Formats: sequence, C-alpha cells, structure tokens
Amino acid sequence: MPRKIVHYPHPALRHKAKPVMAIDKDLHLQIGEMKELMYLAKGLGLAAPQVALPFQLLVMNVTGDPNKPECEEVFLNPRIVERKGWMEDEEGCLSFPGLYQDVRRAKTIKVQAYNLKGELVEKVASDLESRAWQHEIDHLNGILFIDMMGPLAKFAAKPSVKTFEKTFRTAQQKGEIPPDVDIEKLLAALESLH
Ligand code: CO
Repeated sequence: MPRKIVHYPHPALRHKAKPVMAIDKDLHLQIGEMKELMYLAKGLGLAAPQVALPFQLLVMNVTGDPNKPECEEVFLNPRIVERKGWMEDEEGCLSFPGLYQDVRRAKTIKVQAYNLKGELVEKVASDLESRAWQHEIDHLNGILFIDMMGPLAKFAAKPSVKTFEKTFRTAQQKGEIPPDVDIEKLLAALESLH
C-alpha cells in the first residue's frame, strides 16, 4: 500500500519520533516517497510522522518547487540549538488541509542535524525558512501547529479541528482507517526498523 499523508487526529501525529540510527536503503526509499508526497500536496516541508513513520526525519524545499531539487533538504535527528526574535504570520499544515491561522515563532533559529552522509551539519534560518523548520521539528515531537496558536487563532480554528476529528473517527468506524490501538502497534513495530 503506498504511503499517504495522514490527517489529524491520526495517532502518528502525537507519537514522539525515534532518532534515526542507520542510513540504509529503506530510509532512502522512505525519503523518496516523502518528497513525492510533499510536492503532490504542494507543501514546503514534510515530517516522517505525517506519513505515519515514527522517525526523526524531515524533508524540506522552501521553494515548494519540484523543479528546484537543489533547494531540497533532508535532515535526520534535527534540533534547534538557538532562537532569536519573534514573528507572527499565517501557517498551514498538510495534516490539516485548508486550515490556516497565525502562529508566533522565533524569527531566526540555529538547527543542528545529520545529513544523509551521516555528517553533523549546522544551519541558520530566518523568516519563512525558520518557520518551516520550527513547524516540522515540532512534528517530530508530536507537537502540532494548533498547539502553538494563540487564544484567538485557537478559537477561530476550533470548528475546523472538530470537523477533522469527526471525519477521522467516521473513517475509523467505516473501517477505512484502523483503530488507534492497531495504529499504535504498527508504529511500535516500525520503530525497530532503522
Ligand atoms: Co505540519
């Protein structure tokens, strides 16, 4: 079954991702699938939990343009080591299609991560790129942009969030999506993979 982007409240989105310990063929295949899904959905970034993979892995292309592969970035086990300043702007998420609200983020961040050669790299990002990094790294910790919204944005997002919940639970009742316990078992089994 081909992978697809899971929507809120899929349990993978709240599952804390495990560090990637090996860069192997499976990992490369998963990265290829993630890039494809990111471009199809017209996103700027995609974190592994969004395709129900419990790993600290993310792909990004802040241009969102599949014809600019030189702007693609793949990072393993990233963490933010420095934050400077603040900014507030509209944000969306491929796991909440159609929902956009203001989110406050650090304006500039410094990220440390491993690249696909297994080298530790450091990167400083500002503005849109910084926002994308913070959003995607949050995904690896089971944190979603609805958690980061201020009270007003949260209130405005409430009906949409309720609709996502209803749609997901209905699909589970119809058997189109497995029950949460089965998804949790699958995630645990996948954790031993890399
Ligand atoms: Co997202």
